[in-house]
Amino acid sequence: MKKNLTVRSPGRINLIGEHTDYNMGFVLPAAIDKAIEFTIEPTTGSMIELTATDLQESVKISPKNSVKSDIEWVNYCTGVIDQLNKKDINIAPFKCSFGGNIPLGAGLSSSAALSCGLLMAISEFFELGLSKVEIALMAQKSENDFVGVSCGIMDQYACVFGEKDALIKIDCRSLEHDIVKGDFEGYSLLLCDTKVKHSLASTEYNTRKIECETGVKAMQANNSRVKSLRDVSLTDLEEVKSKISTDVFNRCEFVIKENNRVLEAIKAIKLKNMELLGALMFQSHDGLKNKYKVSCTELDILADFAKSYPGVLGARMMGGGFGGCTINLIKSDVLASFKRAVASHYKLKSGKEAAFYDIKISDGARKL
Ligand code: GLA
Repeated sequence: MKKNLTVRSPGRINLIGEHTDYNMGFVLPAAIDKAIEFTIEPTTGSMIELTATDLQESVKISPKNSVKSDIEWVNYCTGVIDQLNKKDINIAPFKCSFGGNIPLGAGLSSSAALSCGLLMAISEFFELGLSKVEIALMAQKSENDFVGVSCGIMDQYACVFGEKDALIKIDCRSLEHDIVKGDFEGYSLLLCDTKVKHSLASTEYNTRKIECETGVKAMQANNSRVKSLRDVSLTDLEEVKSKISTDVFNRCEFVIKENNRVLEAIKAIKLKNMELLGALMFQSHDGLKNKYKVSCTELDILADFAKSYPGVLGARMMGGGFGGCTINLIKSDVLASFKRAVASHYKLKSGKEAAFYDIKISDGARKL
């Protein structure tokens, strides 16, 4: 008889490097101290029994199931089972309940935490020996295939490889990462949640990916070794300017510049040049808003206010966009006053209440 076990699977932040992952570029995320915990145990029944304790919802699905559900969280779970089936990994029925404290819809990757955590729980329980990279890739594929979002690898990778007190620089082309430890003494990372998630987010996300691929194709015509935006410079892009639309040009330009910003940000962290790090974050937001066009009014209200506030060194929208959070690099001594000021400004301008999360950088998914 297999024994019950528990897996803890965290959400993530991303300091800089947005929409670069599916373009084979660099990202700088970290796992956080908000997570989902899974308890997996044997069952005598013939179905997989899943319970989302926070939502007080339970479903039973067949171990051979690949039928889509109307319930969003169920699709993330079925997607994972579907990936196992596609790899001919047969698993017996089991019972799994899960719950946690990652705010939903805030862009902290509760969905990657769900897919990666369930996969890790299954792998540990049935002793499948899946590696961390396999878990990240299968969880990504399940979201691509089953949920229909062509997401990159950042969220799943950060979820499984995160390390306490460290950012991870992921090279999304080689799937290797470096640990980036910084001295943030005297500074805080604050997340300001717009509390909105616009419905166009996933369609626009997939459109951006296609636009980037269109730019790559144009540059491939000049150089067949070009496989992604990682392989090109701004000069290469200029050369095809007349052959692509302004939108495609702008998307590609943003990605090429954002990749450079990640590398610059890492240098700034190592030199403890927080002003430079903050400036790069503001530039990132500006590009996401004006060139990549994935921001929204609510995110801009938060980022613009942060820019005007003494003691805030940098701020930018984080994640896919169209809602969710901004990430702010802020002097710790103005943290409390900034929160009060931005809360009332946001309420005045948007009519909505913002939420704030002080986060700690934590370890990635693991068996407890
Ligand atoms: C979402 C996706 C990630 C990444 C970000 C944008 O979080 O899941 O793969 O593309 O958006 O950087």
